[in-house]
Amino acid sequence: MTLSSARLAGARNHWRPALPLLALGAIGLLACAQDEQQGSPTGAECDPYLYYELEIAPLMDRYCVSCHAQDLPLSQRHGAPGDHDFDSKQGVLNNAEHVALVAAGGPLAINRSMPPGGSKQPSDAERKLLGQWLACQNGTVHGGHAH
Ligand code: HEC
Repeated sequence: MTLSSARLAGARNHWRPALPLLALGAIGLLACAQDEQQGSPTGAECDPYLYYELEIAPLMDRYCVSCHAQDLPLSQRHGAPGDHDFDSKQGVLNNAEHVALVAAGGPLAINRSMPPGGSKQPSDAERKLLGQWLACQNGTVHGGHAH
């Protein structure tokens, strides 16, 4: 080996320890993004003809209440937070913003972080319906509440 090729090899080796660090950094960024669990505003517009009992309760029953219901003890919620219960209209309204960011859809975004992977997933049409109902919560429709 000549002196210059030895030096070259040395220069190459010099960068190797940095690679695992770069990889760790990338994983860290991904983990942060997942922690937030927040999607994007959906841009959905209120549809005043949607009724909680008719359209929204059945959707929550099918996709959410197996983990998010008042009567479920913490041990049976599969890790879902104790203050997020979606088996009543008030429960959904209390968390309207959060629900929109994790599960609802609209022209700007369709948020799919809930339910978690492995659980039965709502269709995009169902997510949009939820978005349109949630959008009625801005204080201008029905005195601030959707049906
Ligand atoms: C299999 C169990 C399960 C199902 C089904 C489920 N969730 Fe969750 N949910 C969780 C867990 C676990 C967390 C807490 C960890 C997390 O935020 O990822 C959570 C957290 C949340 C949060 C709080 C997120 C935040 O950032 O504050 C909201 C809102 C939510 N879920 C909405 C829903 C909606 C709406 C549905 C139905 C469309 C649903 N979840 C279905 C398990 C579930």
